[in-house]
Amino acid sequence: MAVVVTTVAERPHLREQMGGPRWDDAWPEFMDHDPVADLYYSDTTRWAKHILVATDGDEVIAKGYTIPFAFPTEQRQTLPDGGWDTVIRWGSSDYQLGVAPTACSALEITILPSYRGTGLSKTMVAAMRDMVAGLGFSDLYAPVRPSQKSREPDMPMSEYVDLWRDDGLPVDPWLRVHARLGGEIVAVCPTAMTITGTLAQWRAWTGLPFDQSGPVVVPGALVPVHVDVPNDHAVYVEPNVWMRHRLTP
Ligand SMILES: CC(C)(COP(=O)(O)OP(=O)(O)OC[C@H]1O[C@@H](n2cnc3c(N)ncnc32)[C@H](O)[C@@H]1OP(=O)(O)O)[C@@H](O)C(=O)NCCC(=O)NCCS
Repeated sequence: MAVVVTTVAERPHLREQMGGPRWDDAWPEFMDHDPVADLYYSDTTRWAKHILVATDGDEVIAKGYTIPFAFPTEQRQTLPDGGWDTVIRWGSSDYQLGVAPTACSALEITILPSYRGTGLSKTMVAAMRDMVAGLGFSDLYAPVRPSQKSREPDMPMSEYVDLWRDDGLPVDPWLRVHARLGGEIVAVCPTAMTITGTLAQWRAWTGLPFDQSGPVVVPGALVPVHVDVPNDHAVYVEPNVWMRHRLTP
């Protein structure tokens, strides 16, 4: 495997391969329905210098998205409880208003399922650090989605994030990848992503019945989804973990 990682700005012709059916199984279906995502993903040409694409030969096998934003500022003293959703809103409004960014936030690293388990995630995080440092920023923040939290949906994220191995690294593999490359855990962001839908939508997204009110465990979800049958809706509020990579530009 000869992996080449560059920004999308350097290889814009690869953009087409970064979407489409090959990526259908990359994320649980319900994760595609966070309405805030459109603010960023509806036009990623704006962020081409901030997006990584990895290839093996001619094939795109991984991608990594970041958003520049102003932080800290007078109004933004701490990383937001609203994690991914809020940082997309901040970065998008900064872009629209012409506010100069002073930091970058990771939004996503996705490895094509057939290339997972090969260590590529470390290459992508390291390349993301280099890209963001190369853009002149001294901090890369990341609202990290711990990859194995879905195995413990009933455990509060505040407890999960405090599970350590004997070698001092996080038990969760994705938190561990960040930590090994220099990421420090800053805080849980309890409302990082909010996904709402009617019961019919949730049934279509998950194949589950959604016929009883209360918390429902959904495969791939980090915490239970809250179901309200009389009012015909369900709400998923995903907690993530803010990590900070200090960089040397
Ligand atoms: C999360 C993701 C990027 C990790 O990439 P990966 O190719 O699966 O992982 P890697 O092979 O690089 O391994 C990273 C670590 O996870 C561990 N790991 C990988 N798969 C594992 C599994 N199924 N069970 C337990 N540990 C696992 C590896 O041992 C390694 O830990 P180590 O360095 O301490 O040995 C990838 O699974 C993915 O794209 N997932 C879907 C999208 C996503 O959730 N992205 C992250 C949030 S933005």
